[in-house]
Amino acid sequence: MHIFKILLSYAMALLLILCTGVEAKQVIIKAGTLLDVVSGQTLTNQVIVVDDGVISRISSSMPKNSDNANVIDLSDKFVLPGLMDMHTHVVRNLSKSFYDRYFQSPHRATIGGVVNVEKTLMAGFTVIRNVGAADYKDVALRNAINAGEVPGPRMAVSGPSLGITGGHCDSNALNHAFKERGQGVANGPWQVRERVRENVKYQVDLIKFCATGGVFSKGTKVGQRQYTQEEMNAIVDEAHTHGRTVAAHAHGTEGIAYAIRAGVDSIEHASFLDQTTIALAKEYGTILSMDIYNTEYTLSEGKKNGVPEENINKEKQVGKRQRESFTAAVKAGVKIVLGTDAGIYPHGDNAKQLARMVQFGMTPLQAIQSATINSAELLRWQDKVGQLKSGFYADIIAVDQNPLTNISTLESVTFVMKNGDVYKHQ
Ligand code: ARG
Repeated sequence: MHIFKILLSYAMALLLILCTGVEAKQVIIKAGTLLDVVSGQTLTNQVIVVDDGVISRISSSMPKNSDNANVIDLSDKFVLPGLMDMHTHVVRNLSKSFYDRYFQSPHRATIGGVVNVEKTLMAGFTVIRNVGAADYKDVALRNAINAGEVPGPRMAVSGPSLGITGGHCDSNALNHAFKERGQGVANGPWQVRERVRENVKYQVDLIKFCATGGVFSKGTKVGQRQYTQEEMNAIVDEAHTHGRTVAAHAHGTEGIAYAIRAGVDSIEHASFLDQTTIALAKEYGTILSMDIYNTEYTLSEGKKNGVPEENINKEKQVGKRQRESFTAAVKAGVKIVLGTDAGIYPHGDNAKQLARMVQFGMTPLQAIQSATINSAELLRWQDKVGQLKSGFYADIIAVDQNPLTNISTLESVTFVMKNGDVYKHQ
């Protein structure tokens, strides 16, 4: 009787595996051309074996015992790691109109986030860093994606951005009767430390702060520094103490220099670089995230979408200088990530910036590295994402042409896998 029971339970287990596929899930990808984003080499006819969402082997032959695997044929495609965008604003109301956001609720913006992350993933972005979201909407979205409830990229999120009273990261409603205050507003070293601690409490992955004015805020000057050195030092020290990296929004030269000296991990925008700040970035190992595509979108579509003249004028001051700074930084060998500011332009167009990075001084391989290995390094996720390698997550995309000779092919990704699951296959 006892033996019978044991046999029965084995039989039941087998039945369960056969019926539900609960056994280890194996996927095999036949890759026509595989791009090694570290060396720039291409390998033909490679077989990528994925077990339970992780790459277990890459070689030129099929594994033995692969009868039960799901085989995906990408033998006429160029296969590379999923792309990564280090500066997005996915949690937004969906309307293109500049003013609509003032009349829609935060809940609506969260729903916008759900729509936007799916578009981003479908465009081949398997990792994003979202820099600035009130109410920890970004934390909720990241958690929903990680729980498999919503399709989207892996997200590193910052929660509310820190900023000075009246600064770029404060609220835009400059009518004091509204008593509006940005959630991340904090002044002085102890207040900023407390604000960092609160963001950490609510489980952000990184800290974002505004070191200078910006293009899209009301009444700020792009070139003007906002926090003091003492405040920036306090933010970075507190964040690093809690194991969080720091992203500093900084357009103007002085703000960039202060932020680098404070020890931030990345400078966002970095529009007005000079030889001193370029040298500083190299000395400190600071990574630059420069959104050199969206100027085109703002200048052609901004007016139609209701962007006020003040902001369009500021864009005109920044766009050209930022591209010159980009060229100089590339030439000097500063480490750069792809950071696009998606949200200013439509989500899903993130890869358009890659062609501009090539136009303004990078090789196609450097542009791809900015969106893979450099971004992985900035997130401290370099052992898990950014490369196709055994032990790394199976975050894999494919395109029709060789991106090393035609970078724009990355704007039309035909296959997207994240964590071993296929989201797109055309
Ligand atoms: N979020 C940035 C700001 O408002 C966007 C800057 C856009 N323009 C640019 N050329 N990068 O300052």
